[in-house]
Amino acid sequence: MSDGDFPKDFLWGAATAAYQIEGAAAEDGRGPSIWDTFSRTPGKVLNGDTGDVAADHYHRFREDVALMAKLGLGAYRFSTAWPRIQPAGRGPANAAGLDFYDQLVDELLGSGIEPVLTLYHWDLPQALEDAGGWGARDTSYRFADYAGLVAERFGDRVKKWTTLNEPFCSAFLGYASGVHAPGRHEPEVALRAAHHLLLGHGLALRTLRQALPADAQLSITLNATEFRPLTGSPQDADAQRRVDAIQNRIFLDPLFRGAYPEDLVRDTAAVTDWSFVEPGDLALISAPIDQLGINFYNPSLVAAPLPPGTEEGPRDDGHGASDFSPWVGSEDAVRFVHQEGERTAMGWVVDATGLSDLLIRLNREYGPIPMAVTENGAAFEDEAGPDGEVDDPRRVAYLRDHIAAARDAIAAGVDLRGYFVWSLLDNFEWGYGYSKRFGIVRVDFATGRRVVKASGRWYRRVVEDNGSGL
Ligand code: FCB
Repeated sequence: MSDGDFPKDFLWGAATAAYQIEGAAAEDGRGPSIWDTFSRTPGKVLNGDTGDVAADHYHRFREDVALMAKLGLGAYRFSTAWPRIQPAGRGPANAAGLDFYDQLVDELLGSGIEPVLTLYHWDLPQALEDAGGWGARDTSYRFADYAGLVAERFGDRVKKWTTLNEPFCSAFLGYASGVHAPGRHEPEVALRAAHHLLLGHGLALRTLRQALPADAQLSITLNATEFRPLTGSPQDADAQRRVDAIQNRIFLDPLFRGAYPEDLVRDTAAVTDWSFVEPGDLALISAPIDQLGINFYNPSLVAAPLPPGTEEGPRDDGHGASDFSPWVGSEDAVRFVHQEGERTAMGWVVDATGLSDLLIRLNREYGPIPMAVTENGAAFEDEAGPDGEVDDPRRVAYLRDHIAAARDAIAAGVDLRGYFVWSLLDNFEWGYGYSKRFGIVRVDFATGRRVVKASGRWYRRVVEDNGSGL
């Protein structure tokens, strides 16, 4: 390998999540999740969309695996739906739920595609939410039980495991801003939830290590964000410090250093005394992992608030971060500044340097640790031709620039092992429903028909030549 290349065994893949693609929400014993409840609550999801049918992957998984094979993918990152496996979040496994993933895993392996399994991509069984959700410590223990059931069934075939996807979103978008399920607005519970998610990770890790063969690789995926201060002023540096604490270090420090950041505890003193952190928790949470997964979409520009009465320009929503700042002691302490440049259909700025900077910084501050980009991609207003074909040059450009940024991080010494496009398929984009398309494969939601987009064909060539022709 020479400088600037991808390692020979680099894993090229695509990612999805259960609730976003499966559909079959009430089939084969699946219980309701918080996303079923939330999406049925009027006003929560755009156009009243739900995941009831989604991309109908539950019935079309063989066709979808065949598509992956056609794209030449080396790996597929998917999540198992907890409410399929434990319909009420506790107790024995629902055999039909496990059977579905069993067939999926075998289909992948039979096609030479490595399964990369995420245990939790936001679909908490509703029964556990009714018992307090992630605000309740018991949920962490239930999560570890569920992890054990999945490990027992797939440990012989699945080597790569991820406990949680983006616990930041589960905790803060779910329990503080309420833009995600379960849609609560309780700042103290959001911080509690962040801790219980981490505790769930730690407990699951212990269970997985016991249940899985020694060569299993365990990880967690974070949406760590590259927050950049607008200027070099101490005020802007302080704004950056605050959001970095509540979105990044709140997870990274316990995982890699076994402690919550002191400044975070200070910033949130009016909200909580953190007494929900019990002796022994941090030792479990900081048990070694084999890889860190990073989901990256855009960097974020932040600054100190303007003096009262100043006319403010356009704001960015900070990927939800601005929604919770009022509740964590930073009210008016951080301003999300609109960065000039191209935007995706989500309104997110396109700036691939954010990815290389982030990977390099994380590796320096928390590593060295093997990493993978477990999600990266973009929604654009795709226009489909008469046969469903989509020419999506902006998505191609986005992917190309970010894959090049990943290569830059490798050249700078980051041990990056894989890259997963978000997403394989157009799907249910949470609060935005079906209005935002991230797929490299188009899905016609009326018929379920799939058509590979130009970006999918382009990605196929990237995989084929291991990124050498970018
Ligand atoms: C991430 C989620 C993923 C998808 C992308 C666009 O935060 O993990 O499910 O919605 O954003």
